[in-house]
Amino acid sequence: MTTDVTVLDGLDFPLPGLAVSDDVADLLFREARTVGAFTQDDVTDEQIAAVYDLVRWGPTAMNTIPLRLLVVRTPEARARLAALMPEGNRERVLAAPVTLVLAADPGFHKHLPVLAPHMASYADVLEPQADTRDQMARTNALIQAGYLIVGLRAAGLDAGPMAGGDTQGIDAEFFAETGWKSLFVVNVGRREGAGTHRPRAERLTFADTSLTV
Ligand SMILES: Cc1cc2nc3c(=O)[nH]c(=O)nc-3n(C[C@H](O)[C@H](O)[C@H](O)COP(=O)(O)O)c2cc1C
Repeated sequence: MTTDVTVLDGLDFPLPGLAVSDDVADLLFREARTVGAFTQDDVTDEQIAAVYDLVRWGPTAMNTIPLRLLVVRTPEARARLAALMPEGNRERVLAAPVTLVLAADPGFHKHLPVLAPHMASYADVLEPQADTRDQMARTNALIQAGYLIVGLRAAGLDAGPMAGGDTQGIDAEFFAETGWKSLFVVNVGRREGAGTHRPRAERLTFADTSLTV
């Protein structure tokens, strides 16, 4: 396959430069919503693994790949997580087909000899730098979290990300052994009806959010 623009010829793209079809752009962004109400359809571990298998190719600094996932499925685990969520979000955790706790792994550097062989020595450099590793893990895991939300949509699933949980409590409850640090949770399933009662809110435009120098 060539990398020139001839692959775009003949297709009816709505925007100059958009290299995916209108349907794909709608599925991933324009018609996707943040979903709070899900059907009872199951979401399997295989589906989640397939989404991860796709989004793991998204870029991170030094290929650190610090995002970690806890798949919360059993009623007992849901109850433990729900107790650590703000009251308004508890019921959603209990009702969703499955909930993911997204976390950052400050121990990501141990994988650098494999993930970044050109910078393998950084594993030793970063070992004593716990604060730097925390910051790198958090920044890059959050980037991966964005990929994951879009990846779920690409798999025909809907995502309901929720912040506001007691992250230290979640870490103590679920990550005492791994040292992972929770970021936020994402309910996953298929939307029931519109999936949300909120009308779509405006978005800032490129002009609102950019400067050109
Ligand atoms: C990291 C993150 C945390 C969020 N936390 C909450 C939350 O705690 N409660 C909530 O109702 N919505 C939460 N949201 C949903 C956002 O408000 C929602 O994605 C945004 O308003 C856009 O909605 P839309 O995708 O339906 O257009 C969160 C979204 C993200 C990405």
